[in-house]
Amino acid sequence: MYTSTGITLSLGALLATRATAQGYSLSVTYDVSNFFSSFDFFTDHDPTNGFVEYVDANTANSLNLTSTLTGSVIMGVDSTETNPANGRKSVRVTSQQSFNHGLFIADIAHMPGSVCGAWPAFWMVGPNWPSSGEIDIIEGVNTQTSDSITLHTSAGFSVSNDGSNSGTQLLGSDCEGNNGCSQTTSDNQNYGDGFNAINGGVYATEWTSDHIAVWFFPRTGIPSDISSENPNPSGWGTPLAQFNPADGSSIDDHFQNNQLVFDTTFCGDWAGNANVWNSNAECSALASTCQEYVANNPLAFVDAFWSVNSIKGYWPTEISQVQGLDSRADEM
Ligand SMILES: *[C@@H]1O[C@H](CO)[C@@H](O)[C@H](O)[C@H]1NC(C)=O
Repeated sequence: MYTSTGITLSLGALLATRATAQGYSLSVTYDVSNFFSSFDFFTDHDPTNGFVEYVDANTANSLNLTSTLTGSVIMGVDSTETNPANGRKSVRVTSQQSFNHGLFIADIAHMPGSVCGAWPAFWMVGPNWPSSGEIDIIEGVNTQTSDSITLHTSAGFSVSNDGSNSGTQLLGSDCEGNNGCSQTTSDNQNYGDGFNAINGGVYATEWTSDHIAVWFFPRTGIPSDISSENPNPSGWGTPLAQFNPADGSSIDDHFQNNQLVFDTTFCGDWAGNANVWNSNAECSALASTCQEYVANNPLAFVDAFWSVNSIKGYWPTEISQVQGLDSRADEM
């Protein structure tokens, strides 16, 4: 990186010697102590047209769909009503705080199981969908057994998935609109029943100008620095899924002010899509439509709850790699 003579350092070379690595510092923690005062309940019509009635905080609490009694944040769905008039009751919550870049570490002990009719998701989304982007960190439908990780953006954003785990497949490189760009994963412990069988684990999402990457660590394999104030993804190995902007795409132009969201919906545009339902042998054997199944089988959804131990957000801090050069306010 130095010039061959070693006498004249160009500005470029000078900057190269001050190359910095990304580190992270803890900025926000959500857990039983503050979760329900930091997330708002969404009670509008489900934008994905699910057979669901998203209830408000008081209703959720009085029906015991939400709770903090177990020491983690519980968000469940109704499992008592047959033929609920407005759809099965559930909750969808959105963080009041919105984010630009960061590392988000979610310790989750349980998620809705791999059950016909359910469509659970843990995700991030910005205003004026899809122009501020959406990052689906945990998502799937029906009897799905491994996670689908997807970006949705406005036109003009495409990706490669170089750096993803070898079992992960990118379905399409263009992230525009409803289809988005999805990576399907192959680990049965990272979603649904398999996830719950091991008491879950940690999902870590890194969002920088350079990439969006998602790691999953089963509970017995969580890196020790995850619980520190300065976790460092560079030591975590290959992510479950990595999205790299391609063809001149810019993450910063397509992702802004994203909020964290948890929800469980039923049927709707994905889980209830006739092709999706009919091509699932297990589900289509139970009922001819998704809605018919969800309406008539409340007990199928006893296990359709999220149990979240914590979500922590970390902001980038520049760590100088040049010996003796402290991070200084005058650095680029
Ligand atoms: C409410 O839900 C919590 C968490 O699932 C559970 O521990 C508790 O027993 C429930 N309470 C009632 C009254 O059902």
